[in-house]
Amino acid sequence: MTAELRYRTARTDETTIIVGRGLAAEGSLPAPFERAVFVVDERVASLWAESLGRLASALAHQSWMMRLEAGETAKTPEGAARLIAELSAIGIAKDDWLVGVGGGTITDLTSFVAQIFLRGTKCALVPTTLLAQIDAAIGGKSGLNLDGGKNRIGSFYHPAWVFCDTLFLDTLPERQLRSGVAEALKVFAVSDGDSFNGIARDTRVLTESVRRDDLVDSAVRAKAILLEQDPYESCPRRLLNFGHTFAHSFEEESRFTLTHGEAVLLSMLCETRIGLLLGVCAEEVFEDLYYAVDLYLSAEARRFRASTDQICKALRHTRSLRAGRDDMITLSAIGRGTLVSLVPPDVAVAAWDEVSALFHRDES
Ligand SMILES: NC(=O)c1ccc[n+]([C@@H]2O[C@H](COP(=O)([O-])OP(=O)(O)OC[C@H]3O[C@@H](n4cnc5c(N)ncnc54)[C@H](O)[C@@H]3O)[C@@H](O)[C@H]2O)c1
Repeated sequence: MTAELRYRTARTDETTIIVGRGLAAEGSLPAPFERAVFVVDERVASLWAESLGRLASALAHQSWMMRLEAGETAKTPEGAARLIAELSAIGIAKDDWLVGVGGGTITDLTSFVAQIFLRGTKCALVPTTLLAQIDAAIGGKSGLNLDGGKNRIGSFYHPAWVFCDTLFLDTLPERQLRSGVAEALKVFAVSDGDSFNGIARDTRVLTESVRRDDLVDSAVRAKAILLEQDPYESCPRRLLNFGHTFAHSFEEESRFTLTHGEAVLLSMLCETRIGLLLGVCAEEVFEDLYYAVDLYLSAEARRFRASTDQICKALRHTRSLRAGRDDMITLSAIGRGTLVSLVPPDVAVAAWDEVSALFHRDES
């Protein structure tokens, strides 16, 4: 006799995102958590010691601070194991909170550990880079690197709270700001042409904090609209994978000297060029994107070159992720992302050669 049994997995987690400047001082935080461990980027801990003290006492009755060096080597199984050992030593329980404070590498690591430690502790994030406020901390994806490969381990674990305090961005180096704008260009390129054009024509987000604050607010709103429809990336949310078909491979090839945002800018160009070669978009769409990327791409990233092998490897990797389909997001217009499948490798290689030639041309 066989029995067919079912039970519902109600994944109805709710995430509240608060965006503002000086949140702890403003009193815009929720009633304090009972006990919380703050997993803090070492650099942020030094630069923002006083504000972090205020944040910790506003957010928790009892708290511990763990300082970690940020970067791609932090988000690895070894990094996760170290963090877990420290949490065990403190005696953290399931009802306690893990609060990740830092850029995307720290928020990715914290989300991952929060999900697996004791089969799930409570999670809140305080992203402190523009990239993390706009993207990495929003949407519940975690990621660890394995053997130099980006995000080979990871899952969805939506934090209960995300506090995007734009004050932290005031100490962010310009290269990191540019890297963050990349993720804003990405989300607007697939969903909101007017907002894309706003930053594509005006770089004052790099120099004026008020404009940066507005950018965080509008980019988080644009992303939250897609997340509300599709929190676990089955369809509309996949638009946000624009700029990611080649990005991880570019980061690996550069041995992580490219920032994540720089790799996304280059990958967006390559994917849009593929769209152009396949007849999905017009030349002007690629040109509009190119001018925007050109405004924000750092000098370091312009020197990056990827081999033909790397482009083919990235396509193969995408195919292996999706059971033989190398779905890729490209643009049909600025503000409209679209899916293309089964991209011939020679088209991808030709597209990347054409993109690289533009930067060679600019150099000479
Ligand atoms: N989970 C997701 O959905 C998602 C989305 C996008 C990116 N990511 C991941 O995010 C990571 C990139 O994030 P990132 O660019 O924030 O990198 P990061 O965490 O390495 O931070 C970049 C640098 O900025 C410093 N920093 C952080 N806050 C600062 C501040 N306020 N002032 C001065 N310096 C500060 C850090 O110490 C670090 O040196 C990548 O690993 C990427 O894969 C994840």
